[in-house]
Amino acid sequence: MLRTTFLFLSRQRTLRRWFETSNLSKKITRRFVAGLTLDDELRVCRALSSERILSTLDRLGENVNTLDEAAAARDSYLASLERLAELNIGATVSIKLTQFGLDFSTEQCLANVRMLVERARSLGTRIEIDMESSEYVDRTLEIVRRLHVETGAVRAVIQAYLRRTAADIASLCEAGIPVRLCKGAYDEPASVAFETKAEVDRNYVEQTRVLLERGAYPAIASHDPKMIDAALSRAKELGLASDRFEFQMLYGIRRDLQKRLVDEGYRLRLYVPYGDAWYPYFMRRLAERPANVFFLLRNMLRF
Ligand code: FDA
Repeated sequence: MLRTTFLFLSRQRTLRRWFETSNLSKKITRRFVAGLTLDDELRVCRALSSERILSTLDRLGENVNTLDEAAAARDSYLASLERLAELNIGATVSIKLTQFGLDFSTEQCLANVRMLVERARSLGTRIEIDMESSEYVDRTLEIVRRLHVETGAVRAVIQAYLRRTAADIASLCEAGIPVRLCKGAYDEPASVAFETKAEVDRNYVEQTRVLLERGAYPAIASHDPKMIDAALSRAKELGLASDRFEFQMLYGIRRDLQKRLVDEGYRLRLYVPYGDAWYPYFMRRLAERPANVFFLLRNMLRF
């Protein structure tokens, strides 16, 4: 119930405008967002690197209103790629295709993303293409496939809550495309997504096994100790070295678990968002764990 409410709120434009321009912005977001500027982001990524944690940069924003806005997002990402490369900390960059114009033109979106991916390849890194709601999955995977063939510098994201996931993972493994597996963060109908946590978790564990057996450098993206332990025990059974896969988590979530994995010698990459368009991202984090509202209220009341 609370989950659905927060996911509903995440789509409310008036509330979004009010929150994002409010003086409370920084206080509300600081647990999950690196800051409002690229400098804030780079400071966090550098600090994480000193703790042996990799990062993937995300400039907050999705569903732009015009192709000009999409081109501006592309240029901003191109600039951040250059700045990240100067740090030389093995960071990647994560993007959402709706921020690159997918709602307007698949071809124009592809052209925008291609510029970014080609630059990423020449800088020795890769672009991770987040997965949005189910209406975008086919178009997103089509773009991922084309750019993989052209550059080999992309990673797909697959959501374990979708019923189609086993088939998608099988074909991405076949094509040698790296995959980040997450549970999924959007409000989806029962016709396309599993309804219970038990079903999603079961699918997550099964698909983790497939990725560890046949995938190209998979990323296990979860804060759920059961998912992580299942991945670790399968990796051990397969005799996989710790540099053949990585764990991923969101900045600010389960820092205890993050530390445990790094201390045990596993690769961990944090998804580190920054920017002023934080509202939908933040609401999805509340939907995942409504108890975060107490943390939010505490920050808002602290002067
Ligand atoms: P689950 O939700 O079962 O939570 C397990 C435990 O983790 C909880 O008990 C709690 O301790 C902790 N936890 C989880 N969420 C928390 C929160 N918000 N605040 C505090 N604690 C929390 N989704 C998507 O649809 N498309 C995408 O591209 C991505 N990309 C992505 C990248 C990375 C690196 C991660 C880690 C996640 C995503 N996601 C995503 C989000 C993902 O789909 C999912 O919504 C969250 O990761 C929560 O699921 P868990 O696997 O953590 O399990």
